[in-house]
Amino acid sequence: MEPGIKIFSNASEMAEELVEDFCRYTTELARLKKSITIAICGGTTPLYFYRRLASFNSISLKKIDWERMHFFWVDERCVPAVHQDSNFGSANRLFLRAIDIPEENIHRIQGENVPSDEALRYSNDLRLNVSIRNKFPSFDWIFLGLGEDGHVASIFPDQLKLLFSDKFCETSVHPRTKQNRITLTGKVLINARRITFIVSGESKKQIVKEIIKKEPVAKLYPASYIKSVGGRLEWYLDKQAASLI
Ligand code: 6PG
Repeated sequence: MEPGIKIFSNASEMAEELVEDFCRYTTELARLKKSITIAICGGTTPLYFYRRLASFNSISLKKIDWERMHFFWVDERCVPAVHQDSNFGSANRLFLRAIDIPEENIHRIQGENVPSDEALRYSNDLRLNVSIRNKFPSFDWIFLGLGEDGHVASIFPDQLKLLFSDKFCETSVHPRTKQNRITLTGKVLINARRITFIVSGESKKQIVKEIIKKEPVAKLYPASYIKSVGGRLEWYLDKQAASLI
């Protein structure tokens, strides 16, 4: 199997490993730096991770120095935080409320704001709170999902230019639902020290194969442009999503 690929029986098993990794990696980082910056993606796959993180053995969670952890989002739907579509809303309901983390360490994208204004506001938040490397924010860890059309974050196949924008974040529009989104740009996504794609389900198997095998069609997919710049890129897949590789 190619390096950087881990395959799990299902999304729950993947979540278990992710939580173990989370405790190990953040404990290591806490020895080296005052604040740890983590950007989480939206969609349904991370929900398993959130539930596991919240239900995890409280002693292990208590060992995590939440004062040093800063959570950001990879993208957000332009809806209020309480809306069912809100990526922050899901994370908050499922785990942020269950941990003792200072409110100022939660850097949500404010989906209720005017999208273009919010893209600017969130970019400033990143500039102030995430270390800058190669002129772009460099997160300690970014979690990414993979859309069935090959989108990553809220960079869709018809908006490839967002991969190469010199801004930290931009507005975008979901091609089918026309929902306004705010998204980190490609140069921020690839700049993280650790990038983990978390992908589950039969519906992703074809696109996973095309990207991992670097098939020509993959250049149509924003996710295929995510290569790490001086960091580590890995794929956490369940058996269904990995069934063609
Ligand atoms: C979003 C996400 C998006 C998601 C993928 C995969 O806001 O929807 O950031 O990029 O990660 O669409 O979603 P699933 O995990 O639901 O397959």
